[in-house]
Amino acid sequence: MSSREQILHLFRQCPDAYISGQEISNRLQISRAAVWKQVEQLRELGFKIEARRAQGYHLLDSPDLLLPSDILTELDTRLVGRVVRSEKKLPSTNLFAQQLAVEGADEGLVVLAESQSAGRGRMGRHWESPAGVNLYCSILLKPHIPPREAAQLTFLSAVATAEALKDVCGLDARVKWPNDILVGGRKIAGLLNELSAETEQIHALVLGVGLNVNMLADQFPPELRYPATSVRIETGKLQPRLPLLRSLLQRIDNLYTEFLSAGFVPLRKRWEKLFDLLDRQVEVDLGPRVISGVVGGLEPDGALRLFLPDGRVERILAGDVRPIGSEH
Ligand code: BTN
Repeated sequence: MSSREQILHLFRQCPDAYISGQEISNRLQISRAAVWKQVEQLRELGFKIEARRAQGYHLLDSPDLLLPSDILTELDTRLVGRVVRSEKKLPSTNLFAQQLAVEGADEGLVVLAESQSAGRGRMGRHWESPAGVNLYCSILLKPHIPPREAAQLTFLSAVATAEALKDVCGLDARVKWPNDILVGGRKIAGLLNELSAETEQIHALVLGVGLNVNMLADQFPPELRYPATSVRIETGKLQPRLPLLRSLLQRIDNLYTEFLSAGFVPLRKRWEKLFDLLDRQVEVDLGPRVISGVVGGLEPDGALRLFLPDGRVERILAGDVRPIGSEH
């Protein structure tokens, strides 16, 4: 932890007290001048810190930042968040997590950015990533499973995101196969899992989560393929990002632990409870062609079962599914 983060940690440990500069200096083994400098830097970041003669410093209010030390407080994970990298701006958190994996980063690494200049969406699309309002998060996993089963973990981040939205914001979030998260039919989060593997072994699986938290309607690009929303639009309230992020990371950790010990079935069941399109007529954009049919649920490996009009059953492994008769 940096000195700045240690000072914040001290403030958070005694939220009602004043802590003298001398005490901070003793605890952190840094000079009084260094304490003052760090406090000034915290103020520049938006922390409201009161200073009283003969009493010391007191934290009054914190900005909505994603500092690793803050994230890790109250998190009780086995793996996820062992290392957290929180950056101001990155081209893409997924790309950065993949690069760190190549350099030997351990499983459980979390990469966050306040903004992304080249946020990646599914099927080569761009993910709009303005600064400070949303969550752009990537989690590095290295599961010892055959690469063909990696698609099952797509459902893991979907369940974690939808459940975190329900739990923290009270939103009725639903999943759309394979991995969009919708509220009231509008997309509130997108998931992009990227795999690096050999035939028999996974090197790195990066779970990318883009969650629209405080974005307002005029911040979405006009040409969006899918109607989009955010927590703020849905609830009418500013949502601090930290509780949502903590809940997301905790859930990913719990679900991953369960997946490793109990396999895909419990995860599949939880995902199916959040799925809206069962038995619905849909069309599926496969890239080169579009097919339509009725959704018959998930195959054991996570593929979508589609009943075609001619009676055949098609297993969909990748594609964009939309209900027929909706503008989505
Ligand atoms: C989609 O197309 O719906 C998936 C969007 C995924 C966006 C997230 S934001 C964090 C992570 N980093 C990226 O570059 N993309 C994912």
